[in-house]
Amino acid sequence: MKKIILALGCGLFFYGCQQLMRDVVQVQKVDQTFLTDQLTVLAQKAKKDIQSYPIDSTRFPRSLEADKSIHATASRSWTSGFYPGTLWYLYAFSDDAELKEAAATWTDYVEKEKWDTHTHDLGFKLNCSHGLAYEMTGEVAYKDVVVTASNTLIKRYNPNVGAIRSWDFNKENWDFPVIIDNMMNLEMLFEATEMTGDSIYHNIAHQHALTTLDNHFRDDYSTYHVIDYNPETGAVRKRNTHQGNSDDSAWSRGQAWGLYGYAMSYGKTKDKRFLKQAEAIADYFFTHERMPKDLIPYWDFDAPDIPNEPRDVSAATIAASALIELADYVPAKREQYLEWADTILLSLSQDSYQTKAVPFFLNQSVGNKPGNSEINTPLVYADYYYVEALRRRLKSLS
Ligand code: GLY
Repeated sequence: MKKIILALGCGLFFYGCQQLMRDVVQVQKVDQTFLTDQLTVLAQKAKKDIQSYPIDSTRFPRSLEADKSIHATASRSWTSGFYPGTLWYLYAFSDDAELKEAAATWTDYVEKEKWDTHTHDLGFKLNCSHGLAYEMTGEVAYKDVVVTASNTLIKRYNPNVGAIRSWDFNKENWDFPVIIDNMMNLEMLFEATEMTGDSIYHNIAHQHALTTLDNHFRDDYSTYHVIDYNPETGAVRKRNTHQGNSDDSAWSRGQAWGLYGYAMSYGKTKDKRFLKQAEAIADYFFTHERMPKDLIPYWDFDAPDIPNEPRDVSAATIAASALIELADYVPAKREQYLEWADTILLSLSQDSYQTKAVPFFLNQSVGNKPGNSEINTPLVYADYYYVEALRRRLKSLS
């Protein structure tokens, strides 16, 4: 009996300490020292991890399995661009030759995906790897890959719908599914126009963002996950979810993709409708009554057992990075946006959100809860947007 009371007492003590840490987060400060320290630690960890996680074209790190072994994939997975991208960002920060070499080799292994017409995820795969490699090195071969991938991606554009088709599976239920995540693949198309001077990529991306704006959002600016269109008329057939709690719920990462997608699309087009949309999504997300104080959302704002539901760190890192971009476009709300982003960065610097697992940085993300997959685990894209957010925030201070 004494042992049980002792165990309960210890449990309560540690829970209390954790809560206290989350409150302490609010009084720390994001400044140049904090950001540089964070990025230095991540670059050091990445450098150590590349020694113990060998480069293998069939084993792109994605998450951890339930038994804590690494869930690795072929380059075909939508997540294959994120590990090379993270290494590129950390190379750019540290100027470390080993990080550069690893980034370049992993990047080479993604290249063959540029021909794949069966996916919309070409921006995630090729822009986060080759697009960043081009930004960091200026090597023309990387640019050529981005342009080839863009030519492949626009084959999935349907002018009747005004959108790029997302998925090819589930054909018995969906005729032309488009998911909110697809906003993220537009960045590569906008950049392909900047690289080539050919407006076709930009125009398709612009129209896709307009069509998504018209059909994906509810009156409160939360987003549906999947919209299924009639490919002949462009009419909306269905509004569904795939990774959210229900068709009518607000899946957190979907909201974050929308926020990032519209902030980025405004940056590339200067279309004011996209700016208004990004501002409204940010308000929905960050002032939601079920958003926890440390601004790391539950995996779905409408998950049934909040507060006993897993958080999704990936949604937080994507949103933080987006907010730092948005802050540049909205002077009147700059302080508020940076304050929200800083709270996320401070929260994630706490031990409870960090992992020592190779080759990851953060834990507590959710890939697909309804699919019972990747729950409360590190995810390679949570790390990618974390590093991007830290870099963006550091740049915003210089
Ligand atoms: N389809 C990308 C995601 O799971 O967010």
